[in-house]
Amino acid sequence: MFLSRRATQAEYFDAERPLAELQQFYQALASINALFLVSEPFQRYIPRLLGQENVRQLSLLDLGAGDGSLGHSLTNWAARRGWAWRVVNVDLNVSALGLSGSRLNVAASVVALPFQDRSFDVVIASQMTHHLNEVDVPRHLSEAWRVARRAIVISDLHRNAALYCGLWILFLVTRFPHSFRTDALLSVKRGWRISELGELARNAGLSGARTSLYFGSRVVLQARKS
Ligand SMILES: C[S@@+](CC[C@H](N)C(=O)[O-])C[C@H]1O[C@@H](n2cnc3c(N)ncnc32)[C@H](O)[C@@H]1O
Repeated sequence: MFLSRRATQAEYFDAERPLAELQQFYQALASINALFLVSEPFQRYIPRLLGQENVRQLSLLDLGAGDGSLGHSLTNWAARRGWAWRVVNVDLNVSALGLSGSRLNVAASVVALPFQDRSFDVVIASQMTHHLNEVDVPRHLSEAWRVARRAIVISDLHRNAALYCGLWILFLVTRFPHSFRTDALLSVKRGWRISELGELARNAGLSGARTSLYFGSRVVLQARKS
């Protein structure tokens, strides 16, 4: 059946690309992220997991941050509530981090984080887990858990036909670069389903992690330390 098996083919932007192409990619991703309210699961679940009164001052680590736009939007969102959130971006792609305008950037792989245990209050990741395979997802989750003091929240595309068709139609009526459209559709094909991510979390030793479907388009994993 369509999308029953996860694709493993590499995306165009998995390889190093010229800066101009990368800039174009992140401009396009910003529009899609705004349309699909990509920051929303973090805005909803972080205060819910920790309690509103415990999120006034938070250090966050964003894994696979790309151009750091999630950190930027969460910091601004928190500031509007009078909260001080500070986000450190991690990505393998130094050129992407260079687009962030932030000084809080660390070039590293999410499967081997250069931080001590419990270094950040909350560890987050958005649209990154589908880039990893079955061996690396548990390594990524256990590293995220290790460096988190209080909680982790991971959100990614859910592999399903409705999301794939929705994006396909959107790309039919809008103008996005060809490489972006191809990667976005392939990202859905590479997405993890709820049960798959749940099993990978158990393989990582995160028996208390909860995975759920978020408005039909995303799989969200959340876990809190006691
Ligand atoms: C689709 S982008 C998502 C960017 C951003 N999180 C967002 O939601 O807008 C995926 C990012 O994950 C990064 N990435 C993929 N594998 C990685 C790894 N093993 N370690 C660190 N970053 C990785 C890529 O370089 C890319 O910047």
